[in-house]
Amino acid sequence: MTAQLIDGNALAKTIRTEVAGRTAALKARGVNPALSIILVGEDPASQVYTKHKVNDSTQTGLEATLETYPADMTEADLLARIRALNDDPKVHGILVQLPLPKHMDSQKVIETISPTKDVDGFHVASAGALMTGAPGFWPCTPHGCMKMLEAIGYDLRGKHAVVIGRSNIVGKPMAMMLLAKSATVTICHSATQDLGAITRQADVVVAAVGKLNLLTADMVKPGAVVIDVGMNRKADGKLAGDVDFDGVKEVAGWITPVPGGVGPMTRAMLLVNTLEAAERAAK
Ligand code: GUN
Repeated sequence: MTAQLIDGNALAKTIRTEVAGRTAALKARGVNPALSIILVGEDPASQVYTKHKVNDSTQTGLEATLETYPADMTEADLLARIRALNDDPKVHGILVQLPLPKHMDSQKVIETISPTKDVDGFHVASAGALMTGAPGFWPCTPHGCMKMLEAIGYDLRGKHAVVIGRSNIVGKPMAMMLLAKSATVTICHSATQDLGAITRQADVVVAAVGKLNLLTADMVKPGAVVIDVGMNRKADGKLAGDVDFDGVKEVAGWITPVPGGVGPMTRAMLLVNTLEAAERAAK
């Protein structure tokens, strides 16, 4: 292996320790940072994710409440509950777990969350804030990736970063964050022709498509930083990212593993956003 590993578990732990310290300081001023999580329906993966979010929060000193509702909850009832949480000064962050049942309009639900409490960073106002450089909440996954680049002391200025994936919650915000650090950014996606010809020019590659072995060693410039946002199941049931880790680690300069890379960073950044929401509300 020539690449150095970027350890998401270790970095997330450091961030959680920082959050715990700032949370304790805020509590000493009488403000209890609180996150409200809403889960509609019984999707097993969502049940696991929301449980993690509650445990991560409470272990860091943040208050977290998980509200669960049946899959046949009406959209009107969900919107009413969100508006009540918007109006509750004791609640600093609101997260509606996705996916929602099919009869609900997810974007409409997200737009109902107050942008001041949008700790997922999915609201159109949050996307706009990121685009313009205004204060707001950044989506947790790309923000976690930026923290990883920061942790290795990587100077993005003038570098070519290639983001593979154009989702509203990873690819597009990631590109904005890289651009804000004066990188030259190319956004590719699953339909990009001759993807390797583009990634081979990249100093930084962020893979966020959800496809096993999307990025192979022949597609990577020697010494490049490779960040793997993918989360896929292999035939043997094991987790793997979008990057052929065993091949790419022989070419890249830095690489994130799956599991233990971006995943724990995403979880840590939700805590950061919730704490920031509380700090801003306490100002
Ligand atoms: N479902 C899968 N990931 C996420 C996430 O980061 N936020 C929300 N709200 N739902 C999700």
